[in-house]
Amino acid sequence: MRARKKKNTVPRLERVSDYLIGAVPAHPQGEIRVEVGCGKGKFVTALAKDHPDVTFYALEKIPDVIVMAAEKAAREEIGNVKFLLADAKDLTEGIEKKFMGLDENRNPILEDVAHEALCPSKAVSVLYLNFSDPLPNKKHAHLRLTHRSFLEKYRTILKEDGHIEFKTDNKPLFDFSVEEFRESGYEIYDYTEDLHHSGIPNPYLTEYEIRFSEQGMPIYSLKARPPKEETV
Ligand SMILES: C[S@@+](CC[C@H](N)C(=O)[O-])C[C@H]1O[C@@H](n2cnc3c(N)ncnc32)[C@H](O)[C@@H]1O
Repeated sequence: MRARKKKNTVPRLERVSDYLIGAVPAHPQGEIRVEVGCGKGKFVTALAKDHPDVTFYALEKIPDVIVMAAEKAAREEIGNVKFLLADAKDLTEGIEKKFMGLDENRNPILEDVAHEALCPSKAVSVLYLNFSDPLPNKKHAHLRLTHRSFLEKYRTILKEDGHIEFKTDNKPLFDFSVEEFRESGYEIYDYTEDLHHSGIPNPYLTEYEIRFSEQGMPIYSLKARPPKEETV
């Protein structure tokens, strides 16, 4: 998603700082779910509203986009979702804290503020990947959020009985992802090449999903369980 740089992003982020990760208690009690690449946050805020006992972390790497997601949660006073301004490539054991800083030209930058994991490893029950950037150029395959290097990172934060839910409008990305999940030892289920006509429950739509399905495009989707420890 390309977003034009907005001048007032920093003060806007400051106003919704309660909804950003700096305010998140480490090691929350109860179920934890994560969305990677949450965009403007429609999906995760709706989900969090309906599941008040679950803690949601939503990662997004673009400040001008995450501010809209955090503002949405703030407007609706949804306290159980916290947004991480972070690049998924920085996910390691647990989720590291990154926070907003400014460079010398007052442009927002990501700064490490702590290397403390926000949740213990293997604590996340569901990880959502919705309409991840397809990055069609082969040179960028390693940046696709379903590349095997990312699937390996997700495995370190997913519970043994946790799973990933992946949706996309992009067939080449979907085919690539199926291959990556299989090669990484994940077990695929609920595979469909037309989610909206599949009978698989799909109550929470994303901004991109609404846009593409209104254009009549099929939505590809799958769920995947991480490999068991002894098989990797
Ligand atoms: C195509 S948009 C989809 C947004 C939303 N999930 C939806 O379905 O409407 C993909 C989003 O993922 C974010 N993204 C891409 N790579 C990322 C990464 N490595 N870490 C965090 N966010 C990422 C982009 O900035 C963008 O906002």
